[in-house]
Amino acid sequence: MEDVYRPAEDSYLLAKHVESLVSGNVLDMGTGSGIQAVTAAMKPEVESVLAVDINPEALKEAEKRADDAGVSGKLSLLHSDLFDEVKGRYDWIIFNSPYLPSEGEADEHAWAGGAELIERFLIEARDYLEPVGSILLIYSSLSEPDLSGYKVELMEEIELFFEKLYCIRLSPT
Ligand SMILES: C[S@@+](CC[C@H](N)C(=O)[O-])C[C@H]1O[C@@H](n2cnc3c(N)ncnc32)[C@H](O)[C@@H]1O
Repeated sequence: MEDVYRPAEDSYLLAKHVESLVSGNVLDMGTGSGIQAVTAAMKPEVESVLAVDINPEALKEAEKRADDAGVSGKLSLLHSDLFDEVKGRYDWIIFNSPYLPSEGEADEHAWAGGAELIERFLIEARDYLEPVGSILLIYSSLSEPDLSGYKVELMEEIELFFEKLYCIRLSPT
């Protein structure tokens, strides 16, 4: 059984910007414990949140978090590898990507994926954004992705012991 990612500095950095920016229909990719999905769903400006994860245990935990916060009416859960099972278009897509560079099939999804997974996400994400939709993405200096094809706005950067974390807003060009 896979572990569910415990909220950490990266989660809190993203949640801060989710709280101040997102509205409308929101997709939380790689929801983990559901921290971003629930932060979004608690905003009156947010109509609905779709929480997606490849790990079924994460979806159970996100559902519990939403119940405890009293926002389960606004939240749907979906088991999917990135956008494979996703339908519709979203005003905001949030992704706190698994930040460690991937070393192969046996990697834990919660931790590993790196630039490769983010680049796959960015190629697919544009087909699921509303025309003026945006992506809010966290990535690490350990896994710097190719961001071409998007206008990039740096929202915040924090320095940790052995890496930097970036929170960026991306709009398709
Ligand atoms: C770093 S954790 C972030 C969890 C949570 N969003 C947060 O901010 O704390 C990354 C999450 O992405 C999920 N994930 C990894 N690969 C995925 C994939 N291909 N499709 C969907 N989710 C994936 C993991 O299971 C994990 O829950």
